[in-house]
Amino acid sequence: MKIGSDAGNGLRELAGVRAVVTGGTSGLGLALVEELAGRGCGVAFVARGRAGVERVVRERAGVHGIVGDVASKEDIHPIAVQVLGELGGLDVLINNASDLGPAPLEFLADTECEDMERALATNVTGPFRLTKALLGALARAAREGRGALVVNISSDAAVAPYPRWGAYGASKAALHHMTRIWDAELAAEGVRFISFDPGDMDTPLHALAVPDADRAALKRPSEAARELVDLIASVLRRQGKPAAESSSSAAEANQ
Ligand SMILES: NC(=O)c1ccc[n+]([C@@H]2O[C@H](COP(=O)([O-])OP(=O)(O)OC[C@H]3O[C@@H](n4cnc5c(N)ncnc54)[C@H](OP(=O)(O)O)[C@@H]3O)[C@@H](O)[C@H]2O)c1
Repeated sequence: MKIGSDAGNGLRELAGVRAVVTGGTSGLGLALVEELAGRGCGVAFVARGRAGVERVVRERAGVHGIVGDVASKEDIHPIAVQVLGELGGLDVLINNASDLGPAPLEFLADTECEDMERALATNVTGPFRLTKALLGALARAAREGRGALVVNISSDAAVAPYPRWGAYGASKAALHHMTRIWDAELAAEGVRFISFDPGDMDTPLHALAVPDADRAALKRPSEAARELVDLIASVLRRQGKPAAESSSSAAEANQ
């Protein structure tokens, strides 16, 4: 599919919006990179595997790939510096990269502490650190009237106590609650936070968790990405002006 083929269809509303997606080489994250780039956003993405990052950059001209591990404290500031260097600021952060905990899934009593720690580091502490590192840029975007939004990717496992999903479910519940608190604390600054549950999708993470699932019955990641990007557009619209509109107003004001 040609990126930008939806131009003229009312979908260019997000043109000029600067967005970063963690976990952008597979599944939902990759679909988000494609959807956002297709709607004219400036897009950066993060993943650990260099080969995957280089492949996505090769196949999708104009997107910026960053090799980094969101679970690693040392990687967070280098990731943030590269995001801001590549995009020149930030309007939308999508914390999408995730860790399942033990694979195959285990009851909590059989879960290794290291698997629990990795799930929490990837799904809670990593998004917390990255949000903190990028908060100044997001607050600036809000002040400039561009809108500023953090999306944390959640799951029904954040709410339902599914046996064997303990590490993942507890970490997603913490992420969801942290999202609500961030939103309450930063509403006055104009930086919004939302959780998004994409539903059961046909991705490598799902295959790892539920190897015998009927893949044909699962949602395509591209469908979830479309839904989320529509939601992002509506939040930015309610918040202020989409970037394209805000830059043209700024240009008009300077004339
Ligand atoms: N699939 C589902 O049915 C489902 C349902 C509900 C919610 N979700 C949520 O949707 C999101 C996307 O899941 P998915 O199924 O699309 O996953 P996926 O296909 O397994 O993709 C995960 C992506 O994250 C990257 N990643 C993993 N750990 C990372 C880390 N520590 N630092 C940076 N990047 C990392 C991976 O690349 P590298 O390995 O190279 O780092 C890859 O690009 C997750 O938040 C997941 O919890 C999924």
